[in-house]
Amino acid sequence: MLRPPSDALLGQLEAMLGPKGFTRDVEIMSPWLTDWRGRYRGASAALLSPARVDEVQAIVRLCAANDVALVPQGGNSSMVGGATPDGEGTSLLVSLRRLDRVRSVSADDKLLVAEAGATLSTVHDAAVAAGLRFPLSLGAKGSATVGGLVSTNAGGTQVLRHGTMRSLVAGLEAVMPSGDRLDGLAALKKDNRGYDVARLLIGAEGTLGIVTAAALRLVPAVGARAVAWVGLENPHAAMALLRRLEGEAAVESFELIPATALALVLTHIPGTRAPLGGEHDWHVLIEVVGSRSADELREHLAIAAADGVIADATLAANEAQAEAFWKLRDTISEAERIAGPAAKHDVSVPVAAMPRFIVDAAAATETRFAGARVIAFGHLGDGNVHFNVRGLADADAGRWLRDTGAEVTRFVHDLVMAEGGSISAEHGIGQLKLAELERTGDPVRLAAQIAIKRALDPRGIMNPGKLVPGTSIVVGL
Ligand code: MLT
Ligand code: ZN
Repeated sequence: MLRPPSDALLGQLEAMLGPKGFTRDVEIMSPWLTDWRGRYRGASAALLSPARVDEVQAIVRLCAANDVALVPQGGNSSMVGGATPDGEGTSLLVSLRRLDRVRSVSADDKLLVAEAGATLSTVHDAAVAAGLRFPLSLGAKGSATVGGLVSTNAGGTQVLRHGTMRSLVAGLEAVMPSGDRLDGLAALKKDNRGYDVARLLIGAEGTLGIVTAAALRLVPAVGARAVAWVGLENPHAAMALLRRLEGEAAVESFELIPATALALVLTHIPGTRAPLGGEHDWHVLIEVVGSRSADELREHLAIAAADGVIADATLAANEAQAEAFWKLRDTISEAERIAGPAAKHDVSVPVAAMPRFIVDAAAATETRFAGARVIAFGHLGDGNVHFNVRGLADADAGRWLRDTGAEVTRFVHDLVMAEGGSISAEHGIGQLKLAELERTGDPVRLAAQIAIKRALDPRGIMNPGKLVPGTSIVVGL
């Protein structure tokens, strides 16, 4: 049974971590006790900010010995409340943000070793400085950190060609729930010594240990890139376009954007403007890399337009315009957040089924819930969209979400499960989707997950109440 931290334990932690690494100041802790979407408000007995791996080990050892829960946190950009403690204030928030060094970059091995608190932007910059690149990107790149990206098996807008974090992590270092350090940074290409324990921590959301560093795979720098904004009629046309491009060009990104999402961005994000003159129900943002990318993309889009697959398209004339196109895509979440509450779903179905799913599931949802409007956008080529449902007029959106949100979510998730899909394609489970994971999850997989959790974290101190059913905090006195 977990316990609140005693004054003696807090005193030990304070003495060990010093003023930069320990605080109980409510104002300093406050921003880190709310998730990015503002859905959860947690409490913590103290905020611990270790600057070295041995400090993380000492924290975990002390907390294991005292049965005190730990909530690891990186950039606090979780979409599912994965890094927010519960409201009891009996756990300790562990920020990895001071553990932020890029330890090494090897151009020969195409590997970069970064600590958990390094942001994705820092990793991008370090890779570029070595003449290479790290091919994972997402809107929160300035705040999302390596530890969080690993722990959520983050996806983003380049999964199509390079995969999720699972494909990009070559090795890991972590502090296990015992406080022991797991050194899996060696990044061996071949290693058949049984279970890949380090890789279990990818996507584990801090429930099996605290990731302290990762060896990340780099790829050659892009000589040139071409970015296009395309207007088309429906998701089926978008998929037809993707199929035409695949195999013909090095497609890095292929993002689907409905007119409704673009309108939210244009309304709420300053300095944005629509790339195309006319009105289109759907858009795709395409990025192709390679020395001939601009010519290739222009040719393929011209043929697609002549064949009636797309309605209109424009190629970014320069890097500034390419960035402006990407801003329209990367700020959809931010624009949605400003626009107000919505029932958000991060779903995947088999790639080929996605266009039909978007159209049919949106129609079914809007029919079932009067006044509801679906905005489905995102990673079409990965079979993953963010299927968000807004209800009623903006003034009533909060009430609608409180009264109807859970039912909407069950409805959408049932449609996803009927397609053999996933209720969490890239955001993880956190606390937001735990009940739905229990309701819809494969019992065999869930049982294995629970058994692994119990075996590696028998005292249940690591991020309780997230990802693994039955781990919420039961605090004794
Ligand atoms: C995205 O693709 O923009 C992110 O996953 C964020 C979101 O779902 O809102
Ligand atoms: Zn996404």
